[in-house]
Amino acid sequence: MFWMIRVEGSYLYIGGFKAEDLVLKFGTPLYVYDKEVIIENYVRLRNSLKYGDVEVLYSCKANSNVEVLKVFKELGAGLDAVSVWEALLGVKVGFPPDKILFTGNNVTEEELKLALDLGVIVNVDSIQQLVRYGRLNPEGEVSIRVNPGVGVGHHQKAVTGGVTKFGIYLNQVNEALRVAREYRLKIVGLHAHIGSGILDVEPILNVAKTLTKLALSLNLPDLKFVDVGGGLGIPYRPGDKPLDVEGLGVGLTDLFNEFSHAYGRRVKLFVEPGRYLVGNAGVLLTKVVDVKVFEDGSLKKVFVGTDTGMNHLIRPALYDSYHEVIPASKANVERKLLADVVGNICESGDVIARDRLLPELREGDILAIMDVGAYGYSMSSNYNLRPRPAEVMVYRDEVKLIRRRETFEDLIRHMILD
Ligand SMILES: Cc1ncc(COP(=O)(O)O)c(C=O)c1O
Repeated sequence: MFWMIRVEGSYLYIGGFKAEDLVLKFGTPLYVYDKEVIIENYVRLRNSLKYGDVEVLYSCKANSNVEVLKVFKELGAGLDAVSVWEALLGVKVGFPPDKILFTGNNVTEEELKLALDLGVIVNVDSIQQLVRYGRLNPEGEVSIRVNPGVGVGHHQKAVTGGVTKFGIYLNQVNEALRVAREYRLKIVGLHAHIGSGILDVEPILNVAKTLTKLALSLNLPDLKFVDVGGGLGIPYRPGDKPLDVEGLGVGLTDLFNEFSHAYGRRVKLFVEPGRYLVGNAGVLLTKVVDVKVFEDGSLKKVFVGTDTGMNHLIRPALYDSYHEVIPASKANVERKLLADVVGNICESGDVIARDRLLPELREGDILAIMDVGAYGYSMSSNYNLRPRPAEVMVYRDEVKLIRRRETFEDLIRHMILD
């Protein structure tokens, strides 16, 4: 039986649970993840990649809760870590170090040393970092992040290819090879990640083509993998067309079969999605605290105030992102109220959803902010000195608290109080 996240009658269900029952048990605000949805996403992507030598690395910046990481470890995924602490957590969770790719930006010598101690694969992002790495680990194995000169993303702030701070630019690749020779480094990987939230197959295939072409022209003797990055988007708005994952799989499979043939041996295909695997698996449940109506002549504006905000979900404020809002126990009630759903943070930009049609709402009603499994909790903060929510994971008829709600003690833990 498959439950997943769905509306039945007037109620939102997550797995075997009514959202409002989860709230009774765990309180609000509450991040809820459905493990079944995560597994389904992973299996769909994995099955679409029919090329024989594939590694799916879960990009844990999207959601680094240990229980989420464990799901991917059990599925046999590797890990994409963008800080050495993510890599450390991956090792602690039990990912084999050789399945963890550490792609840092502006990485210090201390961080590189820690990565080397952990034994993870280091993917360098600049010439200076390559020199630093060569000094620390001469004759070692290294992967190179290339910036292919083009980028795409759901928002300019999420574009990482092109004129950005990321990667070794194509016209620096020869210099990178020279540094690698100087330190007798073995280049085992070529990598690119051009942005996040891509709903078209083409840009991702283009990155793959650029990298495989580059690999062929450089003819790297130690090359083990080509990593085409993450960035696979998910539909957030009702009209968004989902990424054609099967089409992407066919395109990558064909390309890598041809590439391996031309290269004379099998080279692994790495992909490192985050959002695609966990985005639609997460819901943020929040309570309506206040309904405020501004009225002046013909101007009317309704603000539905909640007990969460941009401190718990920054995507709308940072990227103008759209998240569907479902009244968790009034899902089928007629929507006549045009309102902004707002948070409790002292910023007028603290708007979770603008101009939405909602049913009449009262204090205590529960709203579900949808598709927040990626870049929700992982980008949250204690702004306004507010605790972060609890997180729970649902799997069919089981539910588990996977991070407790922060307390005031947590908020002041690192302050020097005397
Ligand atoms: C290097 C790298 N790989 C993978 C990802 C995952 O991106 P997404 O969650 O869009 O798949 C990111 C996120 O920006 C990243 O920086």
